[in-house]
Amino acid sequence: MTRLLIRDLRQVATPSGTGAPLRGGDLGRVDVIEDAYVLVDGGEIADVGRMRELAVIGEFKELDGRGRCAVPGLVDCHTHAAFAGDRVEEFALRAGGASYEELHAAAGGILSTVRATRAAGEAGLRVAVERHRESMLCAGTTTFEAKSGYGLDHETELASLRAIAAAGGIPTWLGAHAVPPEFDDADAYLDFALTEVLPEAAKVAEAADVFVERGAFDVKQARRYLEACKAKGLALRLHGDQFTEAGAVPLAVELGARSVDHLEATSDAGIRTLAASDTAAVLLPASALFLGRPMPPGRALVDAGAAVALATDFNPGSAFTESLPLVCSLACTQLTLAPGEALAACTVNAANVLGRAARRGRIAPGFDADLLLLDVPDWRYLAYHLGGDLGIDPIVGGRRALP
Ligand code: NIG
Ligand code: FE
Repeated sequence: MTRLLIRDLRQVATPSGTGAPLRGGDLGRVDVIEDAYVLVDGGEIADVGRMRELAVIGEFKELDGRGRCAVPGLVDCHTHAAFAGDRVEEFALRAGGASYEELHAAAGGILSTVRATRAAGEAGLRVAVERHRESMLCAGTTTFEAKSGYGLDHETELASLRAIAAAGGIPTWLGAHAVPPEFDDADAYLDFALTEVLPEAAKVAEAADVFVERGAFDVKQARRYLEACKAKGLALRLHGDQFTEAGAVPLAVELGARSVDHLEATSDAGIRTLAASDTAAVLLPASALFLGRPMPPGRALVDAGAAVALATDFNPGSAFTESLPLVCSLACTQLTLAPGEALAACTVNAANVLGRAARRGRIAPGFDADLLLLDVPDWRYLAYHLGGDLGIDPIVGGRRALP
């Protein structure tokens, strides 16, 4: 493979340090190199430095970085990209005052996407996930996790996981997202999911996830589900404290889960518990915005020393956006994170949630050559330009990924 020299970049900005996750004061530290180059070799970053110190020997292709800034390719560690259909009618109803929880209880919400996803079939789902992957890439996401959870039957859950893997995503089995209509209660559904689906899901998925919430699964059911998944070698994730603080945080920490995601309703005790643990706090401010809910306590989590990550929660019902730059804007304006904290939270720390921090989330030698060239005068435009056009030119594995 030919080497690639990206030269004359206005800035290269990357989270400081070498470890992961970054916490507290370390989260906001960013190394910024002005008038810089990045040298890529064999899909890896070989070198980063100042133009005036550039000494490249041998053959290489050149890419002109003049006027542009480079940041690491963004890592979206929480999406529900395996869905078909949309929820535009529900969106209009919510705009008129209906609540998300009411729609969910009336078999709309998640269950309406379950109907559309089952109807799409595996081929239809593959097309959908591929399209979503492309939209995420256009928004700067070069590594993405995606969950099943809109199938909730044997065939569609496995088809979802395969479609995610086929699109290059990191699959999570969200087998406990909602109770599908053919089951009377959550326990009966879990009996089925853990005996019929888990053995095969565990061969495709890297992690398992559960929605701990009134109207979904309680802590006892979540424990049963997560313990069975852990025994099959899956990493654990939880949707927790979205509407009510229902015990997801202590359970996650006890079971050594990788993350609890949402946390809009988390109390000071929950913040302290997370901060004292290795379980990451994955914040989804686009979901809080989209549902008109309180924002998660991002500033307090960072200050307490929690391993904070940011993600889109991309899904048709509660967060219909693929854009991590938008999430960074929300993190800065609504959670009062600094731009450097937001950058690390959706690069290094998000990669760590996915078990990928050794090779993803930094522009540094030895890392995968996944980076974004932004047509902006300062890397902080990533968060500053709210919903703006950043002229994103993604490089994935050392190659330009968009025409
Ligand atoms: O993370 N909260 C549960 N699950 C998703 C929403 C899924 C949906 O509304 O379709 C979430 O917000
Ligand atoms: Fe989610």
